[in-house]
Amino acid sequence: MTSAAPLLRIRSVSKSFELPKGTLDVLEDIGLDVAPGEFVCIVGASGCGKSTLLRLIAGLEAQYTGSIDYDGAPVTGPELSRGMIFQEHRLFPWLTVEDNIRLAFSATDVPRHEQKARVQEQIDRVGLTGFEAAWPHQISGGMAQRAAIARALINRPKLLLLDEPLGALDALTRLKLQQELQRLWLDVGITMVMVTHDIEEAVFLADRIVVLDARPGRIRRIVPVPLPHPRERTEAAFNSIKHDVLTDFADSPG
Ligand SMILES: Nc1ncnc2c1ncn2[C@@H]1O[C@H](COP(=O)(O)OP(=O)(O)OP(=O)(O)O)[C@@H](O)[C@H]1O
Ligand SMILES: [Mg+2]
Repeated sequence: MTSAAPLLRIRSVSKSFELPKGTLDVLEDIGLDVAPGEFVCIVGASGCGKSTLLRLIAGLEAQYTGSIDYDGAPVTGPELSRGMIFQEHRLFPWLTVEDNIRLAFSATDVPRHEQKARVQEQIDRVGLTGFEAAWPHQISGGMAQRAAIARALINRPKLLLLDEPLGALDALTRLKLQQELQRLWLDVGITMVMVTHDIEEAVFLADRIVVLDARPGRIRRIVPVPLPHPRERTEAAFNSIKHDVLTDFADSPG
């Protein structure tokens, strides 16, 4: 095989938290490679460690065993080339849409005039043109999530980590944003690692679906989704993969 070196290489990662009552083992022996340009979805029961794993990859948490390499070097802290989108969109209510997005430049030395143009580029990309000066309370949940996506794209990350980015949205807005995320991924070619509770969303978007077991979080299996994009949710092949993944959750004892 002549495939490129992985952009992300996770080896034997285990993570525990020390609690007053004892040690909580959250992740155990996680191993995963993500190729450049790949879209990987992580699914698993609530509390199985999905957000914790994303935080380790982002460099927000240093206490773990095993290794995480990004672009050939160990992850030692957050970096602009690894963007993160949290489940809560976290727009600041006292800043306009434009200024919320511009915040992503605060750790950079990008000159102000260039900031303006780059903010506008991302606003246009996510379809918020005309809402630059709106306040967060004046826009819908889906628009706020678009603004959060624009903010994460500002520094042109190579890897985007998405923690249930669409979890708080109604079903129709969710379908629309799934399509937009897919278009973004196809157009821009960013590598994506996305946590979701929604198996259908994972089958719609992912090249591979990582199914985590709970307590401690372990990789149960990795399901490839070898269907061409854009995917048709009513297709037999789509539904057979969806049902296959769903059985992992129906089976689990208790
Ligand atoms: N900072 C922390 N200190 C102690 N325990 C933590 C901490 N962060 C997470 N945990 C625990 O680790 C476990 C995994 O949490 P995590 O948020 O990664 O789960 P998750 O899979 O993202 O769940 P959900 O699907 O509900 O978002 C939980 O039991 C949680 O209580
Ligand atoms: Mg979580």
